[in-house]
Amino acid sequence: MKFRKINTLKGEVTVPGDKSISHRAVMFGSLAEGLTEVTNFLQGADCLSTIDAFRKMGIEIENNPEKILIHGKGLHGLKAPSLVLDMGNSGTTTRLISGILAGQDFESTLTGDASIQKRPMRRIIEPLSMMGANIVSVNGNDCAPLHIAGSPLHGVHYHSKVASAQVKSAVLLAGLYADGETLVTEPALSRNHTEIMLRYFGAELDAEDKTARVRPEPRLFGRKIHVPGDISSAAYFIAAGLLVPGSEILIKNVGINPTRDGILKVAREMGGNITLLNENYNGEPTADLLVKHSTLHGVTIEGDIIPTLIDELPVINIMAACADGTTVIHDAAELKVKESNRIDVMVQYLSAMGCDITGTDDGMIIRGGQPLHGTTVDSHLDHRIAMSFAVASLVADGETEIKGSDVVTISYPDFYKDLARLCR
Ligand code: S3P
Repeated sequence: MKFRKINTLKGEVTVPGDKSISHRAVMFGSLAEGLTEVTNFLQGADCLSTIDAFRKMGIEIENNPEKILIHGKGLHGLKAPSLVLDMGNSGTTTRLISGILAGQDFESTLTGDASIQKRPMRRIIEPLSMMGANIVSVNGNDCAPLHIAGSPLHGVHYHSKVASAQVKSAVLLAGLYADGETLVTEPALSRNHTEIMLRYFGAELDAEDKTARVRPEPRLFGRKIHVPGDISSAAYFIAAGLLVPGSEILIKNVGINPTRDGILKVAREMGGNITLLNENYNGEPTADLLVKHSTLHGVTIEGDIIPTLIDELPVINIMAACADGTTVIHDAAELKVKESNRIDVMVQYLSAMGCDITGTDDGMIIRGGQPLHGTTVDSHLDHRIAMSFAVASLVADGETEIKGSDVVTISYPDFYKDLARLCR
């Protein structure tokens, strides 16, 4: 797909439902007793992989356009899948479901696409094995395919080396099937949607600072869930609105959970004009975001804020490339093990567009303010790379071509349509 520099962005946009929350609604709804109704569910390929996996384990899930209906069968209601479970491109499905499968009384095998088969699974194999799980990497490379033979599990206190909601959630979900309480402590607090939603379904779970604790064998009950808009999808419009001269955009109903809102803090620190309207703090907090074009300057991004903006770093790189001065990003080595190596890929293509950027072991240094020019970008089948460079193209001279641009179906199927609607 080809893109050109635009004059300005104006209007309103409603981004699709949050990916992390949509996955969890299907998973926890399947483990609950009775009906779970989910509105504003993200119809992206990753979340459809989650639906497909639970259907293969005997859960009836009706995917209607306005509402998902999950006919949950309780904590012990899953059936052995007769086929290999296909996770597609979804790391969240793979890691969270492994925690659930570890505690079942059947065997299962998980696999996924080429990207999933390269992503590190030692981070869940290790804690789940400590709990007594029987989980192996079929090819012995600590990646999927994974074979899991359900077994009796013990409660543990796991101190995770990485701040990862996927690891934390896998351990907490296995903890539902353990013989005692399970605790997870992480080096910095990662997104806490599992903690919030499991408690809403009826689990005995408490969280304090960087530790979450769950008690086993709860009865979970079907619930109604309205999924807020995904701040990770809103991030592209935040960046575009700030960067393109004369822009003013209203992004409606965006989730602003404090474990996810690092992009707002960083954008404001860079000088970005963002106003929160209609803030709502019932359950997962939400707000409308009014974004106006701003002159940005470089900042340092490091430490505990990193997990709260980990998926937004590629588009923050684009903001930094257009900002005056230097932006330094540390403590973000996790970028190397996302859907692509997001340090290498961002350095490769931002350099090709004329930006002065250097990759480091745990982030990047961007000396911003050079004019960007169009180039050809390969998405590396990474949805966030494709959307980030679509934003860069709006301010770059000449034409930018994004190969593999269709990959946005993972998290935001209508992204290009919504973006085009705002372009003037
Ligand atoms: C996710 C957690 C994050 C994030 C991913 C979704 C989740 O991964 O990058 O897109 O839904 O739990 P890590 O927890 O592994 O950092």
